[in-house]
Amino acid sequence: MPERRKIIIDTDPGQDDAMAILLALASPELDLLGITAVAGNVPLPLTARNARVVCELAGRPDVPVFAGCDAPMQRKLLTAEHVHGKSGLDGADLPEPAMPLQPAHAVDFLIETLRREPAGSVTLVPIGPLTNIATTFTRAPDIVARVGQIVLMGGAYFEVGNITPTAEFNIYVDPEAADIVMKSGAQITMLPLDATHKVLTTRPRIEAFRRLGTPVGTAVTGWLDFFERFDVEKYGAEGGPLHDPCTIAWLLDPQLFSGRQVNVEIETEGRFTTGMTVADWWGVTDRTPNALFLRGVDADGFFALLTERIARL
Ligand code: RIB
Ligand code: CA
Repeated sequence: MPERRKIIIDTDPGQDDAMAILLALASPELDLLGITAVAGNVPLPLTARNARVVCELAGRPDVPVFAGCDAPMQRKLLTAEHVHGKSGLDGADLPEPAMPLQPAHAVDFLIETLRREPAGSVTLVPIGPLTNIATTFTRAPDIVARVGQIVLMGGAYFEVGNITPTAEFNIYVDPEAADIVMKSGAQITMLPLDATHKVLTTRPRIEAFRRLGTPVGTAVTGWLDFFERFDVEKYGAEGGPLHDPCTIAWLLDPQLFSGRQVNVEIETEGRFTTGMTVADWWGVTDRTPNALFLRGVDADGFFALLTERIARL
């Protein structure tokens, strides 16, 4: 087997974050060095709790979990209990975690790990607001050149916004952080709503998880039953978009996705457009391309991969 890819998942669990963490833990191609929690879908104490709940569900209490930033860099925290429920993991009744939270701050873990590991060997997978990542880059600029690549869930262009008419939640919560990351010079792959709104948890796909008949399959089924209702009611969609596991799926099988290397800027001052990811898809500016912006996805292939891997836990 080729060398395992070292990754760090930065997350605000969230049922879809939980699916991303489970997919990573079920995939031997990946070596999850640690999980850094950030405030987002729910406040930091809950995201730091939920990350450990997911690790224990997967039988992996050995994975170090760190708490990071409890608020955006310059703005007041906006949460999304209306989507994820009060706990952030509504839909499955799981025990309080026994595994401890690591004592170090997530930003210190990121700095120390990226300074220790060989340059370019660690992939960062942010699937919540980018506060931890931007704070890391601000406190230790030498880190940026040591990052292998960033594979993030966030943004929207053709699909427009899900929290405002123009902005996607992860970017909207901390647009200044997103702007720092997009301007950092790191190699970035973006999984925006343009892709994630094409991977919907239809009933047959949820039933495939239910049929696993495992504790993980049962928890996943409960989460997805709960998680889909917001998007079904809002968009009349046939299921909820499984945003965050798209990042891990891209690492495992990039052929499932398609997109274009383009310039993406973050609007931080717009009266109506703050948090918008302004993607120059048609190359009408001379702005330097800074991200692989993914729009196309093989949804059936994505769910086949996800279901097969979750069945291993
Ligand atoms: O807009 C979708 C994103 O916001 C996902 O990462 C979801 O978990 C929430 O954090
Ligand atoms: Ca998330």
